[in-house]
Amino acid sequence: MKKEIIRLLEKKNDFISGEEISNHLGVSRAAIWKHIKSLKEEGYEIESFSRKGYRLIRSPDLLTQNEISKYLDTSIIAREIIHFDTIASTNTKSKEIADKGAVEGSVIISEEQSGGRGRLGRQWTSPKHKGIWMSVILRPQVNPIEISIVTQVAAAAVVKAGRQMGYDFYVKWPNDIMMNDKKVCGILTEMSAELNHINYVVIGIGVNVNLGIVDFPDDLREKASSIKIESGIQVNRQELCAYILNHFERLYGSFVRDTKGFEAIDICREKSILIGKDVSVIRGNEVFDAFVLDLNPAGELVIRKKDGTEERLFSGEVSVRGMRGYAI
Ligand code: BTN
Repeated sequence: MKKEIIRLLEKKNDFISGEEISNHLGVSRAAIWKHIKSLKEEGYEIESFSRKGYRLIRSPDLLTQNEISKYLDTSIIAREIIHFDTIASTNTKSKEIADKGAVEGSVIISEEQSGGRGRLGRQWTSPKHKGIWMSVILRPQVNPIEISIVTQVAAAAVVKAGRQMGYDFYVKWPNDIMMNDKKVCGILTEMSAELNHINYVVIGIGVNVNLGIVDFPDDLREKASSIKIESGIQVNRQELCAYILNHFERLYGSFVRDTKGFEAIDICREKSILIGKDVSVIRGNEVFDAFVLDLNPAGELVIRKKDGTEERLFSGEVSVRGMRGYAI
């Protein structure tokens, strides 16, 4: 109901009487008043005068269902959005609710994370209202060994969403999105599976949207950045968030239909910052130099080692560094 009220207020762009709203939506004026009160508590600025009715002055910059849905164009992904003001980690929460049976496509978003998690046990800085900290619950009926491609699907969705908003993102395999050689987004894929069956997959996407330099810990400032820092422009988080989900739905759909995930892999290959570069590979206790040849259809990085042998790297096991620093 609140979503419908917001739509009416936005459409009118002027005062609209309680009576008009209640006729439109078929509920009492008292009920409308209650919903308006609750919207104000959520941060909507709504003027109200007894003879004129209600007028929307400003919507809050929040990633709620009400706010994102105007840009969303999906049927499965984000059919359920659970929004938090603050939470430890959207991935951790997603695993909890997936264990209890949450439907495929459920999206968990938080304005802030107090214990955001990155790959390889790292922390993920997630300050309030400045980024997109969200997780998507999936239940793909594919072989568990094929699941690492879903990370590439998410990376491709972020690249396409960025392109739609005019930003040129690159992919640092397997899970980083880069802008001007700095990391602006990371993806954390977690799975609950048995030998041949996936119970669920949680794709955590963290986008540094409007963070300032001071929002990053000192040791990250060289390597990480935000879209706002790199572009000089305050970015509409709601639009970007919805576009990521829109593109994700299309690319994920084609992945589950044909597990090669071609379009997503093609985008990650085209926008790869590693292909054609010398890199340093860290795998457990082993560190070796290699040249990156390709990203294959299975989402594995194909490298040539110094002794001339070729190898395929599987995303779960390695970290790839540039020879002269973090990215390339
Ligand atoms: C990485 O690059 O190491 C992955 C970072 C993933 C961060 C996101 S933010 C939303 C979701 N919740 C988490 O705790 N982590 C992921």
